[in-house]
Amino acid sequence: MTSEILDTVQAVDRTLLLTFGVSIFFFLLITALLVLFVVRYRAARHPQAADIRGNNLLEAAWIVLPTLVVLAMFLSGWQSYLALQRAPGNAMEVRVAARKWSWSFTYPNGRTSGVLYVEQNRPVRLAIGSEDVLHSFFAPAFRIKRDAVPGMTTYAWFRPSVIGEFDVLCTEYCGSGHSAMVSRIVVLGEEEFRRFYEKGEVEGSDRGLELFTRHGCVGCHPLGGVSGVGPDLATVFGKTIEVESAAGRRKVTADEDYLRRSILQPGAEVVVGYAAIMPAYEGRMDESELGELVDFVKNLQKKESEQ
Ligand code: CUA
Repeated sequence: MTSEILDTVQAVDRTLLLTFGVSIFFFLLITALLVLFVVRYRAARHPQAADIRGNNLLEAAWIVLPTLVVLAMFLSGWQSYLALQRAPGNAMEVRVAARKWSWSFTYPNGRTSGVLYVEQNRPVRLAIGSEDVLHSFFAPAFRIKRDAVPGMTTYAWFRPSVIGEFDVLCTEYCGSGHSAMVSRIVVLGEEEFRRFYEKGEVEGSDRGLELFTRHGCVGCHPLGGVSGVGPDLATVFGKTIEVESAAGRRKVTADEDYLRRSILQPGAEVVVGYAAIMPAYEGRMDESELGELVDFVKNLQKKESEQ
């Protein structure tokens, strides 16, 4: 076996292409022979079928050759499997936390992000866990897909060789917000990555949106003027809304103060028509994050009315 390290894209693509190529080759060969034999040896030309006896050489050939071909595919698959399992020693380890319905990424220095920022050409090892139900981390551009299982840690790795943005999806049905459980892998140059890693600064990134994604808000409150499991936040700010509270139904104005209360203690005043299923964020975010999230929701309203 070679000691060269394949990255996950090379490993998967190589085996896929080999298997696909062999399948195509034999599909065409068998189909062509089938047609040829049907035409050439049809009953009209050969009313009496020939009496064909065994041919040891031929039989040995069609046992041995396909076995070798299948073994070659297995060997390639096995090497690819090992490549997917073994992260290079210099990989940066990032903890991935899956929850209904968002991803968060925690770096070795404790920094967390809702978007997976990585450095070009530096391998990344993901230690994946779930805080609630089964999810599955899927990054098609890097050919990795690994279940996130409550109570255990699963691993995957990849080498980001090209600068750019790539999709991250959840590919295990995990409830009503499953389809919104998406994030991104953003591959940065060395300098930009260091700025992010040390100071949390990324050029052109929207901190409000980042928080909105990281804390999982987007799972129930999809952006773009539609309501999901929770109310549409783009039209709520400043409106008078009817809520269900311990004191019965009443009307409140969805002002800054109400937004804060509904993030920290969402169960206290639930908009009529929605279930009280949002988790309380009291103690789960600091004051500056709370302020930025409230601003983000206020600005959503503005963007909506400008259109
Ligand atoms: Cu998480 Cu689907």
